[in-house]
Amino acid sequence: MHFDIITVLPELLDSPLSHSIMQRAKDDGLLTVAIHDLRKYGIGKHRSVDDYQFGGGAGMVMRCEPLADLLDKLLAARTYDEVIYLTPDGERFAQRRANQLSLGENLLLICGHYKGIDQRIRDAYVTLEISIGDYVLSGGELAAAVVVDAVGRLLPGVLNDETSALTDSFQDDLLAPPVYTRPAEWRGRAVPPILLSGNLPAIDEWRENEAEKRTRERRPDLLGEGLKD
Ligand code: ADE
Repeated sequence: MHFDIITVLPELLDSPLSHSIMQRAKDDGLLTVAIHDLRKYGIGKHRSVDDYQFGGGAGMVMRCEPLADLLDKLLAARTYDEVIYLTPDGERFAQRRANQLSLGENLLLICGHYKGIDQRIRDAYVTLEISIGDYVLSGGELAAAVVVDAVGRLLPGVLNDETSALTDSFQDDLLAPPVYTRPAEWRGRAVPPILLSGNLPAIDEWRENEAEKRTRERRPDLLGEGLKD
């Protein structure tokens, strides 16, 4: 799968996508990420990418022309499954959307800054707007890294144990059950004996019960017992 990401802060994006599972996925050719510096398309001597808001008010807005020039160039070279704008007023990102995006081939992500991008770019190019939560970040870069990571780890071959994404929290609208490793007793705290029993059906049942209990306690909305999005 290929990701193109448009940003004014390429350094901020490089690091989160260059370690551990994401780096291995890139090394194995399962994932390619191209980070595009919008500043190179900026206007004038200062390579300006933003300007004052029409109508007044605090905060700058990212101008149409640099974004449109870069978007046109990228769109001429590839067909994208979605052109995504990361913004706090977008759809709240959730596992269901990550699953769906992971079935695509190419995604284009636009990171906003300041007050965001000119509405006309949203109208003309963007097909999906994503928020990673109800808080405001200083730019879309960390949100873009979250989307690339959440989607990228679902691609076939990225995780060592192919089945492990299936047992993640949220995959069945359930949180994951607790997990334990050695030692079997630590500072007087014992691992639940069932996990040491070798009885696999009983262990599966215990895990299902614990996942449900945890979900009921922490996120009843996922069980349809409260707010559901
Ligand atoms: N840009 C700023 N805040 C954001 C958020 N919560 N989600 C996505 N993009 C953002």
